[in-house]
Amino acid sequence: MQTDLCKKLGVELPIFAFTHCRDVVVAVSKAGGIGVLGAVGFSPKQLKEELDWIDEHIGDHIYGVDTAIPQKYEGQGETDPEKLVEMLQAAIPEQHREFAEGLLQDHNVPAWPEGDDEVTLSFSEAQAQLLVDEALTRDKCRMIVNALGTPPANIVDQVHQSGRLIGALAGRLKHGINHKKAGLDFVICQGSEGGGHAGEVTSMVLWPQMVDAIAPLPVLAAGGIANGRQMLAAMSMGVEGVWLGSMWLNATEAAAEPAQRESYMNASSEDTIRSRSFTGKTARMLKNEWTEAWDKPDTPEPLPMPLQGYLTFDATRRTHRYAGSGETQKVAFNPVGQVVGQINQVESCREIMMRLITEYSEALDHITAINPTD
Ligand SMILES: Cc1cc2nc3c(=O)[nH]c(=O)nc-3n(C[C@H](O)[C@H](O)[C@H](O)COP(=O)(O)O)c2cc1C
Repeated sequence: MQTDLCKKLGVELPIFAFTHCRDVVVAVSKAGGIGVLGAVGFSPKQLKEELDWIDEHIGDHIYGVDTAIPQKYEGQGETDPEKLVEMLQAAIPEQHREFAEGLLQDHNVPAWPEGDDEVTLSFSEAQAQLLVDEALTRDKCRMIVNALGTPPANIVDQVHQSGRLIGALAGRLKHGINHKKAGLDFVICQGSEGGGHAGEVTSMVLWPQMVDAIAPLPVLAAGGIANGRQMLAAMSMGVEGVWLGSMWLNATEAAAEPAQRESYMNASSEDTIRSRSFTGKTARMLKNEWTEAWDKPDTPEPLPMPLQGYLTFDATRRTHRYAGSGETQKVAFNPVGQVVGQINQVESCREIMMRLITEYSEALDHITAINPTD
C-alpha cells in the first residue's frame, strides 16, 4: 500500500495519526503508519520530555510533530514569547473570566492544585518556533505539520534545509493553494466532519477538489475516516494517504480518563458541534452545557484566537484531570469529529490499523466485483 509520499518517508502504510499522546505516536509508527504528535499544548521543555520518551520507545520507526501557527491571531508580530503571553493574559476581559469560572463552579469542577500554574499554549509563531527547533534536533522526527495556516517562510526553509518534509492542514481550497505556493511538500485536506478546527465544506466535496487544484502535490484525506470503507473512498479520490484524529482518542494506548471514554462511546454523530467556545476559532467537539452557554445571545461572545484559548486553558486542564468528577462532562472540552458515532469499542492502535486495512481490502473486492462493463 505504499504511496509515493509513504516511500519518501519510508513508511509502509498510508495511515497518519494525529494525536496529543506519545503512546499513540509510538504504537501507530510501530504498526507501519506514522504517528504525529500535536505539540500546541506543550511548552518547549515538556515537548523535549515527550520526544525523549518517543525516541526511546519507537525503535527504528519515524514520527512527525504538529504545530499550530494561525494565519491571523491576536498579538501577531510579537517575537518575545513571554511578552506575548503577558499581553494576551492582560487582554482578557474580567467578565469573560468570571463567566468561564462560574460555569466550572456551577458544575462542581474541582480547582487546579496550587503551584502548577504554567500556561502552555503555543498558538503563535514565536512559541511554535521553539517547538520546531526542538523537533528538528530529533533524527526520527521526519516531518513537521502546521495547523490553521501556511507556516512562515523561515520555518519552511528551516525544515527543508534539515532534509525533512513539511505540510499543513487545509479546510478550504484556497488554503491548500496557498500552501502549495509556499513550497510545502503535502497538504492535509480536512472536511467539516473532522474533529478539532474544521471548516464548512464536507470531506466528500473538498477532497477531490483539493487533489485537482494542487496536483501534483500530495494530499492526505482527513475528516470522517474511521473504517476501511471510508479509507477506500478517500483513496479513490486520488489522495496519498489518510490522516485520522478522532479514532485514536479511545485507543487502548490513549491517555483518556474513563469518563471521557464513556462520553465518546455514548455519543452519536449528531452529538458534535462546531463551536468557538474553547479556542476562539471554530472547532468540532462534543456538544454540552459549556458549548450551549457560550452560544446564548445574553452571554459573552467567545474571544478571538488565542485569547479564548488562554481564557479556557484552566477549564480544559481541569475538565480533563477531573473528567469523572460530578458534572464535569457537562462542561468538558472533548474535541472529536462526527465519526464519534463509530467509536464503540476500545481497540489498540495496531488493531485499529489492521481493521482499516482488512475492511479496505474487503471493500475493494466488493467494488471490483461490480464491474461497470458487465
Ligand atoms: C482531539 C483533537 C485535537 C486536535 N488538535 C489538532 C491540533 O492541535 N493540530 C492539528 O493539526 N489538528 C488537530 N486536530 C485535527 C486532526 O489533525 C485531524 O485533522 C482530524 O481529527 C481528522 O478528522 P477526524 O477527527 O474525523 O479523524 C485535532 C483533532 C482532534 C480530534
